[in-house]
Amino acid sequence: MSLEAIRYRRGSLSILNQLLLPEQLRYEPVDSVERAWEAIRAMEVRGAPAIALVGCLSLALELEAGAGPAGDAAELEAFVGERLRFLLTARPTAVNLGREAERLRAVVRRRAQSPGVTAQGLRESIIEHIEGLLEKDREDNRSIGAHGARHILQRVPEGGVTLLTHCNTGTLATAGYGTALGVVRALHEQGRLTRVFCTETRPYNQGSRLTAFELLHDRVPATLIADSAAAATMRDHGVQAVVVGADRVASNGDTANKIGTYQLAVAARHHGIPFYVAAPTSSCDPALPGGADIPIEERPGRELTHFQDLCLAPPGIDVWNPAFDVTPHDLITGGIVTEWGVFAPAELRQALAERGGAGAGPSPPKSSV
Ligand code: MRU
Repeated sequence: MSLEAIRYRRGSLSILNQLLLPEQLRYEPVDSVERAWEAIRAMEVRGAPAIALVGCLSLALELEAGAGPAGDAAELEAFVGERLRFLLTARPTAVNLGREAERLRAVVRRRAQSPGVTAQGLRESIIEHIEGLLEKDREDNRSIGAHGARHILQRVPEGGVTLLTHCNTGTLATAGYGTALGVVRALHEQGRLTRVFCTETRPYNQGSRLTAFELLHDRVPATLIADSAAAATMRDHGVQAVVVGADRVASNGDTANKIGTYQLAVAARHHGIPFYVAAPTSSCDPALPGGADIPIEERPGRELTHFQDLCLAPPGIDVWNPAFDVTPHDLITGGIVTEWGVFAPAELRQALAERGGAGAGPSPPKSSV
């Protein structure tokens, strides 16, 4: 059975409740935008692309069920805008839902202005646009995997490759295949992966609960390490590249990703190991000049002081629990792996501008690093 974070067919959406993994594999229905908002906020579904997909699909579901004004295209446009604005308040750091909302608003505006459009016609085109996102994400991830694997193999022309990754960027964080885990999978499919080390990713344990589960499920050779073992693993286990995902990439290449990513990049620099960020261009935010402007979500201290009901810290201790950190572009020494190719951070801005913003345009520019 292949794992999937999101199950959708017209009129029905369910998500794998990731709070219950690895113990239970339970799909739960999402029947409204409010329910999607809660699932995203509570991290039943997480990972930048999956958040965007579940948010948008919940809107498609409401539209299919007849929610919103029936008679007037302009009123329907306003309704969609209001639902998207609400969804965007669930979690602040990942930009993918914001980018998809932007694109969707543009589609709706164009369609709403075309002569003779009815509210029903508009409703149908919004649903179709959203449904197309699932397949697009899978395709983008395959491309990211292929570009990243090719780039790494240029540095390692013979034999197997040992990688290190962080958090969960796989099937469970996307529509399928994954971004950084897509690169891992592509190398494995080519018979060139020796092993991937995955960090446990405290405090939410996406690495031990989700990535380890996914890699074991798919029989990819993997070893779980404590976050604090990362530098020693790089030095003692021949790590040849670090590959992580992204929640938002600013136009200078600074990248927000799961807390702990920055220290991995520092350690990789010390050991001369190339550091890659693998993300679809929908994770890029060309409007942001640098990482200092990326909003960083802070989560409840309880995630650090407790494991489920088990108390791990003295009651009353102050806690700082940022969910993400920013890795400065100069530490992204391998490159930024997108569905278009691999870019040096300094080249990303131009690539995005040439393509008219993230995700637009048909012909990919060539890999440039
Ligand atoms: O808090 P999370 O689990 O949503 O954080 C996820 C990450 O940081 C991932 O690395 C990122 O979203 C990329 S997922 C393809």
